[in-house]
Amino acid sequence: MEASSSEAATRETLGADSAWHLSWVAETGSTNAELLEAARGGAPPGQVLVADHQTAGRGRLGRRWEAPPRASLLVSILLRPALQPASAHLGAIAVALSAADACEELAGVRPGLKWPNDLVVERPEGTRKLGGVLSESILEGGELSALVVGIGLNVNWPEELPPELTEIATALSYEAGPAAGRAGTSQIDRVALLAGMLDRLAERALLLDTAGGRREVLEDLRSRCVTLGQQVRAELPDATVTGQAVAVTDEGHLVVASDDGTRHEIAAGDVIHLRPTPGGVR
Ligand code: BTN
Repeated sequence: MEASSSEAATRETLGADSAWHLSWVAETGSTNAELLEAARGGAPPGQVLVADHQTAGRGRLGRRWEAPPRASLLVSILLRPALQPASAHLGAIAVALSAADACEELAGVRPGLKWPNDLVVERPEGTRKLGGVLSESILEGGELSALVVGIGLNVNWPEELPPELTEIATALSYEAGPAAGRAGTSQIDRVALLAGMLDRLAERALLLDTAGGRREVLEDLRSRCVTLGQQVRAELPDATVTGQAVAVTDEGHLVVASDDGTRHEIAAGDVIHLRPTPGGVR
Protein backbone atom coordinates (compact mmCIF):
# COMPACT_ATOMS: atom_id res chain seq x y z
CA MET A 1 0.00 0.00 0.00
CA GLU A 2 1.31 3.48 -0.85
CA ALA A 3 1.93 5.87 2.04
CA SER A 4 -1.01 8.07 1.00
CA SER A 5 -3.45 5.13 0.84
CA SER A 6 -2.15 3.83 4.19
CA GLU A 7 -2.86 7.28 5.63
CA ALA A 8 -6.41 7.28 4.22
CA ALA A 9 -7.05 3.71 5.40
CA THR A 10 -5.80 4.47 8.93
CA ARG A 11 -7.95 7.60 9.14
CA GLU A 12 -10.96 5.61 8.02
CA THR A 13 -10.27 2.87 10.58
CA LEU A 14 -9.84 5.41 13.37
CA GLY A 15 -13.08 7.16 12.48
CA ALA A 16 -14.01 10.78 11.97
CA ASP A 17 -14.15 11.60 15.69
CA SER A 18 -10.60 10.42 16.38
CA ALA A 19 -8.42 12.87 18.30
CA TRP A 20 -5.32 11.88 16.32
CA HIS A 21 -4.02 13.99 13.39
CA LEU A 22 -2.21 11.53 11.18
CA SER A 23 0.37 11.89 8.42
CA TRP A 24 1.90 8.85 6.75
CA VAL A 25 4.90 9.57 4.51
CA ALA A 26 6.98 7.32 2.27
CA GLU A 27 10.29 8.51 3.68
CA THR A 28 11.78 10.92 6.18
CA GLY A 29 14.99 11.26 8.18
CA SER A 30 13.46 10.50 11.57
CA THR A 31 9.80 10.78 12.53
CA ASN A 32 10.89 11.81 16.04
CA ALA A 33 13.11 14.61 14.70
CA GLU A 34 10.32 15.86 12.45
CA LEU A 35 7.68 15.93 15.21
CA LEU A 36 10.10 17.60 17.65
CA GLU A 37 10.53 20.34 15.08
CA ALA A 38 6.74 20.65 14.74
CA ALA A 39 6.38 20.72 18.54
CA ARG A 40 8.92 23.54 18.82
CA GLY A 41 6.83 25.42 16.25
CA GLY A 42 3.78 25.06 18.53
CA ALA A 43 2.01 22.05 16.99
CA PRO A 44 -0.86 20.83 19.19
CA PRO A 45 -0.81 17.39 20.87
CA GLY A 46 -2.20 14.42 18.98
CA GLN A 47 0.01 14.72 15.88
CA VAL A 48 1.04 11.30 14.60
CA LEU A 49 3.73 10.83 11.97
CA VAL A 50 4.32 7.47 10.30
CA ALA A 51 7.05 6.71 7.78
CA ASP A 52 7.50 3.69 5.54
CA HIS A 53 11.23 4.31 5.74
CA GLN A 54 13.63 6.46 7.78
CA THR A 55 17.06 7.48 6.55
CA ALA A 56 18.30 8.62 9.96
CA GLY A 57 16.16 6.67 12.45
CA ARG A 58 17.13 7.32 16.05
CA GLY A 59 17.36 4.70 18.80
CA ARG A 60 17.86 4.94 22.55
CA LEU A 61 21.22 5.92 24.01
CA GLY A 62 22.31 7.70 20.83
CA ARG A 63 22.08 4.57 18.67
CA ARG A 64 20.74 4.39 15.12
CA TRP A 65 17.47 2.57 14.34
CA GLU A 66 17.55 0.80 10.99
CA ALA A 67 14.66 -0.94 9.27
CA PRO A 68 14.05 -1.89 5.63
CA PRO A 69 11.21 0.02 3.88
CA ARG A 70 7.67 -1.07 4.89
CA ALA A 71 8.89 -3.93 7.10
CA SER A 72 8.13 -2.04 10.32
CA LEU A 73 5.73 0.34 11.89
CA LEU A 74 7.79 3.51 12.39
CA VAL A 75 5.66 6.09 14.16
CA SER A 76 6.02 9.09 16.43
CA ILE A 77 3.33 10.72 18.53
CA LEU A 78 3.31 14.23 19.96
CA LEU A 79 1.88 14.43 23.48
CA ARG A 80 1.67 17.35 25.87
CA PRO A 81 0.85 15.55 29.13
CA ALA A 82 0.68 17.14 32.60
CA LEU A 83 3.85 15.35 33.72
CA GLN A 84 6.88 16.51 35.64
CA PRO A 85 10.07 16.22 33.54
CA ALA A 86 11.30 13.41 35.85
CA SER A 87 8.19 11.39 35.00
CA ALA A 88 8.32 11.94 31.23
CA HIS A 89 9.31 8.28 30.70
CA LEU A 90 5.72 7.34 31.67
CA GLY A 91 4.72 8.61 28.21
CA ALA A 92 7.04 6.06 26.62
CA ILE A 93 5.61 3.33 28.86
CA ALA A 94 2.05 4.29 27.85
CA VAL A 95 2.97 3.95 24.16
CA ALA A 96 4.80 0.65 24.70
CA LEU A 97 1.82 -0.80 26.62
CA SER A 98 -0.63 0.35 23.93
CA ALA A 99 1.50 -1.20 21.19
CA ALA A 100 1.70 -4.46 23.16
CA ASP A 101 -2.10 -4.49 23.52
CA ALA A 102 -2.49 -3.97 19.76
CA CYS A 103 -0.07 -6.83 18.95
CA GLU A 104 -2.08 -9.10 21.21
CA GLU A 105 -5.46 -8.07 19.81
CA LEU A 106 -4.50 -8.15 16.13
CA ALA A 107 -1.90 -10.89 15.91
CA GLY A 108 -2.50 -12.97 19.03
CA VAL A 109 1.09 -12.31 20.11
CA ARG A 110 1.49 -11.15 23.72
CA PRO A 111 4.75 -9.21 23.95
CA GLY A 112 6.34 -8.59 27.30
CA LEU A 113 7.97 -5.32 28.24
CA LYS A 114 11.66 -5.44 28.96
CA TRP A 115 12.41 -2.58 31.30
CA PRO A 116 12.24 0.29 30.58
CA ASN A 117 10.15 -0.02 27.41
CA ASP A 118 11.33 -2.58 24.86
CA LEU A 119 8.66 -4.89 23.46
CA VAL A 120 10.04 -8.41 23.58
CA VAL A 121 9.07 -12.01 23.03
CA GLU A 122 10.46 -14.55 25.48
CA ARG A 123 11.72 -17.76 23.91
CA PRO A 124 13.34 -20.73 25.67
CA GLU A 125 16.60 -19.78 23.94
CA GLY A 126 16.43 -16.13 25.06
CA THR A 127 14.70 -12.76 24.79
CA ARG A 128 14.00 -11.39 21.30
CA LYS A 129 13.30 -7.69 20.68
CA LEU A 130 10.07 -6.96 18.80
CA GLY A 131 10.15 -3.19 19.12
CA GLY A 132 11.72 -0.23 20.85
CA VAL A 133 10.51 3.13 22.10
CA LEU A 134 12.36 6.43 22.17
CA SER A 135 10.86 9.42 23.94
CA GLU A 136 12.31 12.89 23.58
CA SER A 137 11.20 15.88 25.65
CA ILE A 138 11.01 19.60 25.15
CA LEU A 139 11.32 21.62 28.36
CA GLU A 140 10.27 25.24 28.77
CA GLY A 141 11.10 27.09 31.98
CA GLY A 142 11.91 23.77 33.65
CA GLU A 143 8.47 22.35 32.77
CA LEU A 144 7.68 19.60 30.28
CA SER A 145 6.19 21.35 27.27
CA ALA A 146 6.07 18.46 24.80
CA LEU A 147 6.89 14.80 24.60
CA VAL A 148 7.56 13.04 21.32
CA VAL A 149 7.34 9.28 21.67
CA GLY A 150 8.56 7.20 18.75
CA ILE A 151 8.15 3.49 18.35
CA GLY A 152 9.73 1.12 15.89
CA LEU A 153 7.90 -2.22 15.70
CA ASN A 154 9.24 -5.08 13.60
CA VAL A 155 6.14 -6.17 11.67
CA ASN A 156 6.68 -8.00 8.36
CA TRP A 157 10.19 -9.32 7.99
CA PRO A 158 11.52 -11.21 4.97
CA GLU A 159 12.16 -14.94 5.38
CA GLU A 160 15.90 -14.81 5.00
CA LEU A 161 17.71 -12.82 7.64
CA PRO A 162 21.20 -13.14 9.07
CA PRO A 163 21.39 -15.18 12.31
CA GLU A 164 23.09 -12.21 14.06
CA LEU A 165 19.71 -10.47 13.76
CA THR A 166 17.32 -13.35 14.48
CA GLU A 167 19.33 -14.24 17.58
CA ILE A 168 18.46 -10.91 19.18
CA ALA A 169 15.29 -9.67 17.43
CA THR A 170 12.03 -10.89 15.98
CA ALA A 171 9.02 -9.61 14.03
CA LEU A 172 5.28 -10.04 14.43
CA SER A 173 5.17 -11.97 11.14
CA TYR A 174 7.55 -14.54 12.67
CA GLU A 175 5.60 -14.84 15.90
CA ALA A 176 2.03 -14.77 14.61
CA GLY A 177 2.14 -17.54 12.03
CA PRO A 178 0.76 -21.01 12.54
CA ALA A 179 4.34 -22.18 13.14
CA ALA A 180 5.52 -19.28 15.30
CA GLY A 181 9.27 -19.00 15.16
CA ARG A 182 9.49 -19.79 11.43
CA ALA A 183 10.10 -16.88 9.13
CA GLY A 184 7.48 -15.34 6.90
CA THR A 185 4.48 -17.27 8.12
CA SER A 186 2.06 -14.38 8.38
CA GLN A 187 1.51 -10.92 6.85
CA ILE A 188 0.43 -8.38 9.43
CA ASP A 189 -1.72 -5.39 8.45
CA ARG A 190 0.26 -2.31 9.58
CA VAL A 191 -2.79 -0.06 9.23
CA ALA A 192 -4.86 -2.21 11.61
CA LEU A 193 -1.93 -2.48 14.00
CA LEU A 194 -1.41 1.29 14.09
CA ALA A 195 -5.12 2.02 14.49
CA GLY A 196 -5.33 -0.51 17.34
CA MET A 197 -2.35 1.06 19.09
CA LEU A 198 -3.71 4.61 18.71
CA ASP A 199 -7.15 3.56 19.99
CA ARG A 200 -5.54 2.11 23.12
CA LEU A 201 -3.27 5.12 23.50
CA ALA A 202 -6.17 7.57 23.24
CA GLU A 203 -7.42 6.14 26.55
CA ARG A 204 -4.05 5.58 28.17
CA ALA A 205 -2.62 9.03 27.39
CA LEU A 206 -5.40 10.57 29.53
CA LEU A 207 -4.12 8.55 32.51
CA LEU A 208 -0.83 10.46 32.41
CA ASP A 209 -2.56 13.62 33.63
CA THR A 210 -3.64 12.34 37.07
CA ALA A 211 -1.84 10.66 39.98
CA GLY A 212 -4.34 7.78 40.00
CA GLY A 213 -3.97 7.35 36.25
CA ARG A 214 -0.18 7.26 36.48
CA ARG A 215 -0.47 4.53 39.15
CA GLU A 216 -2.62 2.56 36.70
CA VAL A 217 0.01 2.91 33.94
CA LEU A 218 2.68 1.64 36.35
CA GLU A 219 0.49 -1.30 37.42
CA ASP A 220 0.05 -2.24 33.74
CA LEU A 221 3.83 -2.00 33.31
CA ARG A 222 4.43 -4.28 36.30
CA SER A 223 2.01 -6.86 34.97
CA ARG A 224 3.65 -6.89 31.50
CA CYS A 225 7.24 -6.46 32.67
CA VAL A 226 9.19 -9.63 31.90
CA THR A 227 12.33 -8.17 33.49
CA LEU A 228 10.88 -8.64 36.98
CA GLY A 229 12.22 -11.81 38.58
CA GLN A 230 15.04 -12.16 36.05
CA GLN A 231 18.78 -12.16 36.59
CA VAL A 232 19.95 -9.02 34.82
CA ARG A 233 22.97 -6.93 34.07
CA ALA A 234 22.27 -3.21 34.14
CA GLU A 235 24.76 -1.12 32.24
CA LEU A 236 24.76 2.37 33.69
CA PRO A 237 26.82 5.35 32.55
CA ASP A 238 29.33 4.88 35.40
CA ALA A 239 28.85 1.28 36.61
CA THR A 240 27.55 -2.19 35.86
CA VAL A 241 25.12 -3.85 38.28
CA THR A 242 24.33 -7.58 38.21
CA GLY A 243 21.55 -9.16 40.21
CA GLN A 244 17.87 -9.99 40.30
CA ALA A 245 15.28 -7.44 39.11
CA VAL A 246 12.88 -7.37 42.06
CA ALA A 247 10.58 -4.36 41.68
CA VAL A 248 9.44 -1.37 39.66
CA THR A 249 9.10 1.67 41.94
CA ASP A 250 6.29 4.22 41.88
CA GLU A 251 8.61 6.39 39.79
CA GLY A 252 8.99 3.59 37.23
CA HIS A 253 12.59 2.85 38.27
CA LEU A 254 13.90 -0.72 38.30
CA VAL A 255 15.17 -2.17 41.59
CA VAL A 256 17.98 -4.71 41.18
CA ALA A 257 19.12 -6.74 44.21
CA SER A 258 22.74 -7.76 43.77
CA ASP A 259 24.11 -10.98 45.28
CA ASP A 260 25.51 -9.19 48.35
CA GLY A 261 21.97 -7.98 49.13
CA THR A 262 22.46 -4.36 48.01
CA ARG A 263 19.39 -2.88 46.31
CA HIS A 264 20.13 -0.59 43.38
CA GLU A 265 17.43 1.73 42.04
CA ILE A 266 17.96 2.30 38.34
CA ALA A 267 16.33 5.29 36.68
CA ALA A 268 17.75 4.82 33.16
CA GLY A 269 20.16 2.56 31.35
CA ASP A 270 20.49 -0.63 29.39
CA VAL A 271 19.31 -3.85 31.01
CA ILE A 272 20.31 -7.26 29.70
CA HIS A 273 18.41 -10.40 30.68
CA LEU A 274 20.92 -13.10 31.65
CA ARG A 275 20.06 -16.64 30.71
CA PRO A 276 20.39 -19.43 33.22
CA THR A 277 23.05 -21.99 32.29
CA PRO A 278 23.87 -25.25 34.09
CA GLY A 279 26.85 -23.54 35.77
CA GLY A 280 25.15 -20.25 36.66
CA VAL A 281 23.99 -17.40 34.44
CA ARG A 282 25.37 -15.62 31.43
C1 BTN B 1 15.29 1.77 20.76
O1 BTN B 1 16.49 2.08 20.64
O2 BTN B 1 14.94 0.68 21.20
C2 BTN B 1 14.23 2.76 20.39
C3 BTN B 1 14.01 2.81 18.91
C4 BTN B 1 12.95 3.80 18.49
C5 BTN B 1 12.81 3.86 16.98
C6 BTN B 1 11.64 4.69 16.56
S1 BTN B 1 11.24 4.44 14.86
C7 BTN B 1 10.14 5.79 14.88
C8 BTN B 1 10.79 6.87 15.74
N1 BTN B 1 11.66 7.72 14.93
C9 BTN B 1 12.94 7.59 15.25
O3 BTN B 1 13.88 8.19 14.72
N2 BTN B 1 13.06 6.69 16.26
C10 BTN B 1 11.78 6.21 16.70
